Amino acid sequence: MKTMARTIPVDIPGANYTVHLGSGLLPHVGTRLRKLTGNTGRIFVVTAPEIWSLWGNILLAGFPAGDPPQVLFLPSGEPYKRLASVETLATGLSASGADRSSLLIAFGGGIIGDVTGFLAAIYMRGIDYVQIPTTLLSQVDSSVGGKTGVNLSTGKNLIGSFHHPRAVFADTDVLHTLPERELRAGFYECIKAGIIRDPTLFSYMESHAQSILAADDAALSRVIAAAIRMKAEIVTLDERESGLRMILNYGHTLGHAIETVTNYRALLHGEAVGWGMLAATELSRMRGLLTQQQVDRICSVIHAYGPLPRFRATADKLFAATARDKKNRAGARRFILAESIGKAVIVPDVTDAELRAVIDWLLAHVREAAQ
Ligand SMILES: NC(=O)c1ccc[n+]([C@@H]2O[C@H](COP(=O)([O-])OP(=O)(O)OC[C@H]3O[C@@H](n4cnc5c(N)ncnc54)[C@H](O)[C@@H]3O)[C@@H](O)[C@H]2O)c1
Ligand SMILES: [Zn+2]
Repeated sequence: MKTMARTIPVDIPGANYTVHLGSGLLPHVGTRLRKLTGNTGRIFVVTAPEIWSLWGNILLAGFPAGDPPQVLFLPSGEPYKRLASVETLATGLSASGADRSSLLIAFGGGIIGDVTGFLAAIYMRGIDYVQIPTTLLSQVDSSVGGKTGVNLSTGKNLIGSFHHPRAVFADTDVLHTLPERELRAGFYECIKAGIIRDPTLFSYMESHAQSILAADDAALSRVIAAAIRMKAEIVTLDERESGLRMILNYGHTLGHAIETVTNYRALLHGEAVGWGMLAATELSRMRGLLTQQQVDRICSVIHAYGPLPRFRATADKLFAATARDKKNRAGARRFILAESIGKAVIVPDVTDAELRAVIDWLLAHVREAAQ
């Protein structure tokens, strides 16, 4: 099988690793793992049953037939991104004799990655893990940057830690079995990467929507590589989100609010971010940061990767949900806005009136959206 790989370094003090991106990577992971990570211990794969049945044999091809990795399963879905799953998996590891030298492989989407990364962070006070992200969102976003964790019943990602993988293997082949809606949801995060920091990526996604949406390998890997590079650069400059890393939240303030008021059921995360980016873009125009022409370009790219599904919410509930945003400090409402295509800024003083106006604008657009 042909392998076409690009490598993207992530150089953070205390954590240097490489993202390997390309087609045909999966069967080679097993043979390269030891050399790339320096790990000599036992290997455990954490995955979801449906991912394993689609791609497990291809991954196993790289491991010695007499010494395959042990597989631990986590059912799919956000309800399983909980401490209880971490305990079940940790018990499985311990019962199978996993020790401090063991290596975990997170083989799945963002949920598998976040849970496995957190398990690796706390099992025996920390063991190695690698990420093999299998959704577009996890390839371009969650597998890079070291944020790991689980949800509480009171909110998402409230328990967690920073723990970087030893390597990331993003094989674009696995995206061919991903449901189309999941793929489109991932593209919104790529558009975000373009808006906040990479005008070339934005223009490419603007002019090549057709081949990108058709999952053409060359187009896809160009977009994924650019989005990963952008994320790697930002987390290198600001690993702990004390400043710059906040710009990754473009579209996420209202995106998270939409997810909260719809109980995480109506929309995928990327879709909620798609709506949130439309609102952040309009707010940028209201503040005089973006011109109408820039706004039109951004909105038409977001719509080109759609359709964004409708959702039901009242303005009051959305307003209240944004007040709980993690980016708010001491009452000031922080927002990430764009001042050009390719440059985001942190705005500390968005007023209640501005927020209410943009929520009304957003809800009017949701009502108009075609189904
Ligand atoms: N750590 C971070 O920095 C970070 C960043 C963004 C998002 N996240 C987290 O990521 C999670 C969402 O991740 P996601 O969007 O990847 O969703 P997901 O992990 O739920 O995966 C989506 C669905 O696709 C299926 N699937 C995965 N790969 C497949 C494939 N190749 N073929 C067919 N089906 C496949 C999964 O089984 C699942 O049903 C959220 O919990 C979010 O909080 C974390
Ligand atoms: Zn996101």
